[in-house]
Amino acid sequence: MTRHFTDIDDLSAGELATVLDTASELKSQVRRGERESLLERQTLGMVFEKPSTRTRISFETGMTQLGGHAIFLGPDDIGLGEREPLKDTARTLSGYVDCAMVRLFDHEDLETLTAHATIPIVNGLTDDAHPCQTLADLLTIRETVGFDSRVTWVGDGNNVAQSFVLGCALAGIDLTVVTPNDYGIDGSVLERAAELGARPTVTNDPTAAVADADAVYTDVWVSMGEEGGDEKRAAFEEGGFQLNEQLLGETDARVLHCLPAHRGEEITDEVLESDRTLVWRQAENRLHAQKGLLAVLCGAL
Ligand code: CP
Ligand code: NVA
Repeated sequence: MTRHFTDIDDLSAGELATVLDTASELKSQVRRGERESLLERQTLGMVFEKPSTRTRISFETGMTQLGGHAIFLGPDDIGLGEREPLKDTARTLSGYVDCAMVRLFDHEDLETLTAHATIPIVNGLTDDAHPCQTLADLLTIRETVGFDSRVTWVGDGNNVAQSFVLGCALAGIDLTVVTPNDYGIDGSVLERAAELGARPTVTNDPTAAVADADAVYTDVWVSMGEEGGDEKRAAFEEGGFQLNEQLLGETDARVLHCLPAHRGEEITDEVLESDRTLVWRQAENRLHAQKGLLAVLCGAL
């Protein structure tokens, strides 16, 4: 059966460990100037409905390092859902490429693609989930503060947050999620986390939520394609959800952000540029984590 990666809990805890272990090994090889051609002559199709810096570059570079090739298909190329039905695109792609990574608006479109594709489909972000980001987040946490640390998500209960909740549940990380009341994690995601054995602590008090944290993670308040931005920004600002030195107080918490960051909005320039920051390691780890994922999904291990 074709394995897809629609969200992080498509992997078992054991498979997640394999992906992260492979990522670490491949990262060490790159550091030594080595490249292991695990996906020689394989091709990844990359379909984007939204802009990207990290996802596009890390997947394309990752395929090159693994001895394969990646094809970029932007909004004007494939015209996803416009030139032909999604199921026709899924079947056509399946006849050409070995794997496809897609960045979409509607998560249901991803499900339509996976229902008709006979190649692995990787979620490169939808409005609901960003599991490739979670792989890099977990690799970064494992390399630094460790899985036995306390992590706090502060901000919007968005796509990045939802996959991170599930990833922490799989990895056994003690997670607190602090969001304004109207912008929390979807109840169905909290249920899935509970099924994985670890529902996060959910609050709306940022100061209390970061007080004991070893790492604090945030993301933009208004995501790509989202409407009602002004009202939303006002709610986060009034609620004290900006990640700044005052909020971090006396803690020596490290700071995570998936990027791109809106400095002065959800996070200050001071915090992002401080010794607390893990964000550049986190961004680089997208490359290594996804190479580990592709190796597992494409059967190279
Ligand atoms: N974090 C992330 O996915 O970045 P891009 O939107 O630049 O790909
Ligand atoms: N939540 C953000 C993440 C970008 C990588 C967005 O969807 O725009």
